[in-house]
Amino acid sequence: MDALRIRGGRGKPLNGRVRISGAKNAALPILCATLLSDGASRLRNVPRLRDIETTSALLRFLGRDVTVNAPEVHVAAGSDVRPEAPYELVKQMRASVLVLGPLVARFGRAKVSLPGGCAIGARPIDQHLKGLEALGCSIRLERGYVLAEGPGGGGRLKGAEIMFDVPTVGGTENLMMAAALAKGRSTLVNCAREPEVEELGRILNKMGAEVNGAGTDVIHIVGADRGELAPFDHAIIPDRIEAGTYMIAAAMTEGGDVLVEGAELHDLEVLAMKLRSAGVEIESEGHNIRVRRLGELRGVNITTAPHPGFPTDMQAQFLALMATARGESVISETIFENRFMHVPELQRMGASVALRGNTAVVQGVSRLYGAAVMATDLRASASLVIAGIVADEETEVRRIYHLDRGYERIEEKLQGLGVDVERVKGAEA
Ligand code: UD1
Repeated sequence: MDALRIRGGRGKPLNGRVRISGAKNAALPILCATLLSDGASRLRNVPRLRDIETTSALLRFLGRDVTVNAPEVHVAAGSDVRPEAPYELVKQMRASVLVLGPLVARFGRAKVSLPGGCAIGARPIDQHLKGLEALGCSIRLERGYVLAEGPGGGGRLKGAEIMFDVPTVGGTENLMMAAALAKGRSTLVNCAREPEVEELGRILNKMGAEVNGAGTDVIHIVGADRGELAPFDHAIIPDRIEAGTYMIAAAMTEGGDVLVEGAELHDLEVLAMKLRSAGVEIESEGHNIRVRRLGELRGVNITTAPHPGFPTDMQAQFLALMATARGESVISETIFENRFMHVPELQRMGASVALRGNTAVVQGVSRLYGAAVMATDLRASASLVIAGIVADEETEVRRIYHLDRGYERIEEKLQGLGVDVERVKGAEA
């Protein structure tokens, strides 16, 4: 398995420009939305990532004709449709469950593997299923699969009022796609408000559904009259989590000065406020964000929350930043129950962190030390890379297939900012 080898140090500030890729978490549901149409759709600004390859493989399995020519992806109808997402593909990527809504809305039935838990928690899909039932689906769970069928044995879904018990990003997206082909009007309440949900709303409107309120907690959808939607051509929004990760990387060293290109500050307001409280200068320059750290870092507290709160996908990276800040910071994770897998690895690098339930109390230390470390999920891996940037001597971050799921060409982008980093093939062998 590949590793990233980083020769870090506090005396090596990051400098220069880094261009942000398209948002993984926007591209995945949008790829699934292509199932709602038989026409040829074109997605632009798609990141080159393993999760995109997995989704493309899933769409091909379902019978679609997918051409990936990064950063473009073309999807058209293939010969036969097989509305079934097998365990082998779903287990590689939980977001595969996003085909459930479009498949049952378009083809009247779907068989999708239950995703199961993952490194960061149990991650149930009860809200997705409850919503589909409200739209008239009958749902059965059988041998690890969800079997969903439209009304009367495969008929068209019917618009309904759906109230989510928790704001779920994937649940909101699945139900938006299903409602876009349901007969009549649907109202989704207590929706996730993430920019990626808003982006899906734009796509469904381009496809001919009538979606209002995506990006707020109440979404109104009038399903299209026809049995399918129109194809679309769309450039994906920038990846706010990738942008935020480079903002934090820039802030790790005194003297860091980085222009994060093609990133929108309004999607990263809470992170920017927290970075400013920690002593980092953040400015919006058109579609770029300039990050400068002139002095020492101060410890600040964060609590993760659904958008527009502090993103859980930035928690691990922010914790790594706080590891060398002056004073104490209290990091509370409220979205996923097991999202501190990076802490024991950061401790091995010299970080002082006490874990109490869903809270990590970080006492900043003056230096971190390089070590061989590995992570069990994507953002935890990113936090170890960030720590490696300032750690003395050499850090080897192992199992970087997690990083390759969500960060396009991370070593090249970091090299461009002056980081001494290389990809080592088969490092663990
Ligand atoms: C998405 C993101 C992921 C991010 C997460 C939270 C994608 C592809 N992934 O994941 O990067 O970390 O949002 O911002 O966009 N829940 C239920 N029942 C459900 C669904 C969710 O209880 O049916 C709970 C989850 O366990 C979790 C919370 O709701 O505690 C939020 O999860 P959710 O927003 O659904 O996350 P994902 O869509 O899986």
